[in-house]
Formats: sequence, C-alpha cells, structure tokens
Amino acid sequence: MNIQTKLKLTVAAFALSVGAAQANDDQVEVLHWWTSGGEAAALNVLKEDLESQGIGWQDMPVAGGGGTEAMTVLRARVTSGTAPTAVQMLGFDIIDWANQGSLANLNDIAADQGWDEVVPEALQRFAKVDGQWVSAPVNVHSVNWVWANKAIFDENGIEIPTTWDELVAAMETLKAAGVTPLAQGGQPWQEATMFDSIVMATGGPEFYKAAFIDLDEEALGSDTMKEAFDRLGVMRENVDPNFSGREWNLATSMVINGDAAFQVMGDWAKGEFVNAGKVPGEDFLCFRFPGTTEQVMFNADQFAMFDQGGEVSPQQAALATAILSPNFQSAFNVVKGSVPARTDVSDEAFDACGKQGMADLAAAAGSGNLFGSMAQGHGAPAAVKNAYYDVVTAFFNGEYDSETAVVELVDAVSIAQ
Ligand code: GAL
Repeated sequence: MNIQTKLKLTVAAFALSVGAAQANDDQVEVLHWWTSGGEAAALNVLKEDLESQGIGWQDMPVAGGGGTEAMTVLRARVTSGTAPTAVQMLGFDIIDWANQGSLANLNDIAADQGWDEVVPEALQRFAKVDGQWVSAPVNVHSVNWVWANKAIFDENGIEIPTTWDELVAAMETLKAAGVTPLAQGGQPWQEATMFDSIVMATGGPEFYKAAFIDLDEEALGSDTMKEAFDRLGVMRENVDPNFSGREWNLATSMVINGDAAFQVMGDWAKGEFVNAGKVPGEDFLCFRFPGTTEQVMFNADQFAMFDQGGEVSPQQAALATAILSPNFQSAFNVVKGSVPARTDVSDEAFDACGKQGMADLAAAAGSGNLFGSMAQGHGAPAAVKNAYYDVVTAFFNGEYDSETAVVELVDAVSIAQ
C-alpha cells in the first residue's frame, strides 16, 4: 500500500472517530441488565421518551438477572476510564460507587424538580449520599410475591395459601396430580431472592431486620434461621429436575405456559406475564408469599450517573428528568411490573397486581414494615450479599444441611463485613 493510500485511510479513520464522538454528544450510553421480553418492553418506553427529545440511546445490555454480570462489566469499564453515561444499579452498590467519587452530582436537577418531596425516604437512603443526589430512581420492585397459573390452581382446587402449612399442602396436592409445583431458576441470586421471603415468613419483621439489616450474629445463627433453611429444603423438593442454571424469565414462562404451578420471584416477573398478554385474575394470580402479607421487601432500580468530567452533562440531565417525570413513571412501571418511585403517581393505569403493589408499599412504609431485600442489594453491601448467595446456593444444591448452613452463614457474613 503506497503512502498516499495509507494517509487517506488514516484521515478517514480519524474523521469516523470524531464523528462517532460528536454522535455520542447527542446520546446517552446506558449499561443495564434488562434483556428479558418484559424488561426490554419497559426499557423501550424510556428509549422512545428520550428519542422524542432528540437524545439517542447507546445500548449497553449485559445479560444476567439480578445484575451480577453487569456490575462486573461496569468495574472493567470504569477501570479502563470509559465509564458509561448511566448505569442501572441497586441499593448499596450506588453508595459504594458514590463513596469512590465516581458519580455526578444531581442536586440541581433534584432541587429544580422537587425530588426530595416525592421520592420515598427508603429510596433516598440509596439515591443520596452525604446529601448529594447521585442517581435517578426508576421504580420500586418487591420480592415477596408469588406468581401462580390460575387454571392449574382452579383445576386442583387450590385456594391462595396464607400460611406455610397451606403452601406445603398445596404443593403436596400439585405433586400428587403430577404438576411441578415450583418454577425455579437454579442461580444463587434467584434462590436467595426466594429465601428472603422464607426468612421473613419464618421469623417475622423484627427477625428479618436483625438478621439481614443489622447482621446480628445471634439472629443469623439462630434456630429460627435453621427453620428457614428447613423450609427452603422443602421448596427444593418441589422443583423440576432441570432447574439448575435456569434464567428467571424462563421459570416465569413455565408458569405462563402451565408447565409449573407458581414462581416465588420479584414483581419483574409480572412484566413477563404482561408481555405475554396475560391478565391478572384471569390467567394468573399474584399474592404475597404466605406469612409476609403485611411486609414489603423492596429493591429499587436506579440509574446512577457517572461523572463525565465535573458537570452533569445535558444528556444526563435529560435522562434523569425523563426518568422522574410522572408520565414516564406510570408508563414504564405499568410494563415493568414495578411501582413508581414517586409517591404522587396515580394507580389508574395499573392492573390489579400493580394497584396492590402500590397500596402495599404505602401501607408498609407507613407501618414500619418496609425492608430492603438482602438478595436484591438493599439489605447490606455487596460483599455480604454475595456471602449470603454462596451459603444459600450451597444449601439449595445439597452441599450443606440446615445446621451447617446456619454456621456457614454466620461465618460468611462475619468475614464479608
Ligand atoms: C433485579 C432488577 C429488576 C430485574 C431483575 C431480573 O435486580 O431490580 O429490574 O432486572 O433483577 O433481572
């Protein structure tokens, strides 16, 4: 290749990179893990909202429910000095990144739009660090839900269980009828998400708080925690042989298609039913995990804005403004299965499960029954959450009996702090 050609190619490559950079000026690059059908449908609401404002969306999806993989990719991006514009993030992870000085200051936007007055304190706990808004809350999910196939319940004469014993009896009836009772994804974050509800149902709110919020060793190592593991063992006996490694939304599809009776999962599962055109009360039932009807164990998706060099960029400001707008909060959460991150959004557009979710959240917040989900990064920092995952999945896969799991949980949480 002669020197003239090489020079032309070099100039062309430079022009492309400049063009790309200019294009990026009108775009937001967003790292997230919303890759299932329901999640993608909800995300489109945000993408279309931004594009209507002339802001392009540079998608950075990292598959993997619960976000473990996404956080690994994020660390690599930040280490290489190429942090995305905004990142989907949960609870304590936001605080960790803020404490590293990586997040932009959204205080001017928050003050201008009155976020302090409408975003619940439970979310501000994670969105504001040292008095500085660092992320835009998108929603409030909760994990203590059961999603059931109504036809299977009706065909087997099963009423919505309100106690552990009624749940066990329902599973025995289903097994006797040759129906897989529990649709389960065999991944640590999913097993732990179900265990959150079992611990709350077994020990109650004070016990849940002592064990998973205060990390009290006596609670973590108690007979009550052993009983919770015993109950997790009962759930383990009610899954199909192919549960190991299954993605959460494929477990939801089992319930949608009648291949299993119910799933214990956060209300992002509702987004899959909605995306499949299913109707609550007709095709499926949503009810609180038995023994947790007075509590809400929540996790809020937030978009943390990464510092792009001091000032909040116009694109970050537009993204944060779009996320907290009441119209978006309704349109997005109706599709996502979650409830709004603002307290002043009407439930009019929400289906029966969404309306119950909004009412439950308000009631729980008012009665001291609103708790961060440990499995979903709102109980304790990531190191403790991951230690919790390790012990729960070891138990679920038969490596520990209940007594051993309790001892291992105390040790793992102690080491992780
Ligand atoms: C949660 C997240 C939800 C949904 C779910 C499954 O952590 O808050 O929005 O993405 O994971 O991936």
